[in-house]
Amino acid sequence: MARIDKCRWSMYSACMRLLLFGASGRTGQVLRRMAEQAGHEVLAPAHAECPLEQAAQVSDLVLASGAALVVNCAAISGLEACAADPLQAHLVNAVAPAAMALACRHTGARFVHLSTDYVLCGRKPGLKDESARCRPISWYGESKREGELQVLEALPGAVVARVSWVCGNPEKPSFIESTVTRALAGQPLAAVADKVSLPTDAADIARAALALGAGDYAGVVHLTSSGEALSWWQCATLALQAAAAHGALTTVPPVEQQRLDEVPFFREPRPRHTAMCNTRLTTQLGIPMPTAQETISAVVRRFLAAKC
Ligand SMILES: NC(=O)c1ccc[n+]([C@@H]2O[C@H](COP(=O)([O-])OP(=O)(O)OC[C@H]3O[C@@H](n4cnc5c(N)ncnc54)[C@H](OP(=O)(O)O)[C@@H]3O)[C@@H](O)[C@H]2O)c1
Repeated sequence: MARIDKCRWSMYSACMRLLLFGASGRTGQVLRRMAEQAGHEVLAPAHAECPLEQAAQVSDLVLASGAALVVNCAAISGLEACAADPLQAHLVNAVAPAAMALACRHTGARFVHLSTDYVLCGRKPGLKDESARCRPISWYGESKREGELQVLEALPGAVVARVSWVCGNPEKPSFIESTVTRALAGQPLAAVADKVSLPTDAADIARAALALGAGDYAGVVHLTSSGEALSWWQCATLALQAAAAHGALTTVPPVEQQRLDEVPFFREPRPRHTAMCNTRLTTQLGIPMPTAQETISAVVRRFLAAKC
């Protein structure tokens, strides 16, 4: 497996045309900004311009784009939304990415497709590597797993990058930023303590996705922060400690521990142990990632700076 060597990093810094799906989303916004700052030309079709339910339109767009790299950050990522309309979830999360992959096969473009730790069943504790068994337990996970399989079948050279608990875009706050907002407003805090994964900064996902796009790696890769799995409760506590360390809170308020089955909004089942091991990304491909603790601290610092 080739590391992303210095030569490839310089390719990454050379300007290219990038076609980005999902540019208005939590990850897509950050990736778009980073790519433009690096001097790339970014084509970013809006949802209304290219609804992903229309696979033929998606395919035509890729074929006509002249893009050297296509990145798919678009998805229906809400579990309840996918359960409410599994057919639409299948079209957007599986059929459309497959159409992108097939079109890239015709044009010769590189394709990086984002997926999720929710393709794993998450029954057993421990970090999961890329060989871990996939057995999704929700319509969302099912549609994303189908997307992974269809993308790699259509374009074996594609990259399927599984991410988890995306945070770090102040314009689209995640659980981490929302916890700090509630604490600053003096509101009571509660977080699930019996489900774990790894929070991952959208900026790190964007940086790694662009590097993977410039390399020649093919297949599934786990694109998450480093370190041991954390529960949402641990993430919330670390976020509040970071806010206090950055001077935004005078004390760290308590966070009530909740059970997953106590959250009324969660009507769909969530896997409990889906934290992924990123060794392939960091050691074999040479793309560094911060620890989850460093991620939370950086995300809180950026969020507080954006509020000022
Ligand atoms: N967020 C997480 O914690 C998380 C965790 C694990 C994996 N992931 C994966 O990471 C990727 C990025 O997630 P994200 O949280 O950044 O996404 P997001 O904020 O939910 O954004 C989704 C994007 O997809 C677009 N989109 C949705 N339905 C569409 C449709 N029918 N046609 C065209 N565009 C459509 C949205 O456009 P509009 O906003 O205009 O509708 C938006 O740009 C996804 O593959 C997701 O499955 C996310």
